[in-house]
Amino acid sequence: KLLAKGSASEEAAILKGKRVLITAGPTREPLDPVRYLTNHSTGKMGYAIAAAAAAMGAETKLISGPVELGVPAGVTRIDIGTAQEMFEAVMADLNFDIIIMTAAVADYRPKSVQSQKIKKVPGDLALELTRNPDILYEVGQVKDKQILIGFAAETERVLEHAEEKLRKKNLDMIVANDVTVKGAGFGSDTNVVTFITAEGEHIAFDQMEKAEVAKAILKKAVSLINKA
Ligand code: CTP
Repeated sequence: KLLAKGSASEEAAILKGKRVLITAGPTREPLDPVRYLTNHSTGKMGYAIAAAAAAMGAETKLISGPVELGVPAGVTRIDIGTAQEMFEAVMADLNFDIIIMTAAVADYRPKSVQSQKIKKVPGDLALELTRNPDILYEVGQVKDKQILIGFAAETERVLEHAEEKLRKKNLDMIVANDVTVKGAGFGSDTNVVTFITAEGEHIAFDQMEKAEVAKAILKKAVSLINKA
């Protein structure tokens, strides 16, 4: 059969027999029974990757913080709240061909969670925070054959910071995006990204739909598997 390059039928097969793990969304770090710390992540980029991975035939697991999105067709979703819960859910099974971390994990959590609602008192209130695990870094330390891909959402010196993270976290590829650019980052349906591989390759894309960014990431991941 003749199939156009990049046609749906061709894409449908490229991840058949592969296992793909994705983290997505924000985390929620409780302060007391009624309050938490979080961020503006909507989960759109991670969910787009999960949807594309399943459509390309992968057994796809999505570990997700609280978002407004439905579970994409063919995807197994595990819901978590805190960074610590996401860390444990990830570490429970690392037997994947491709691991892509898009979650906006809170780097810090309140040092103690109050069991009763914090009451206001005159004057200022200082919050003491403690570090959460860096999930991507920890997976990088123990990974074997998995293709490990991270995201770097930056506001300045984007490529420099992304390359630093690629190396520090022992990644095969990092997807860098400048969140100050129009049509990129939080809440947007589009993104403007550059892929940087461990081998030093830079691939810069124009603004694309997140669904297209997702396909491009997965195709590149397959080529990295084939090279390994
Ligand atoms: N990440 C993670 N666990 C964390 C923090 C980040 O798994 N505790 C992952 C994200 O999912 C993303 C990548 O690491 O793939 C980069 O996250 P980012 O917040 O941009 O970088 P940080 O390492 O937190 O660095 P900094 O906050 O200094 O920019």
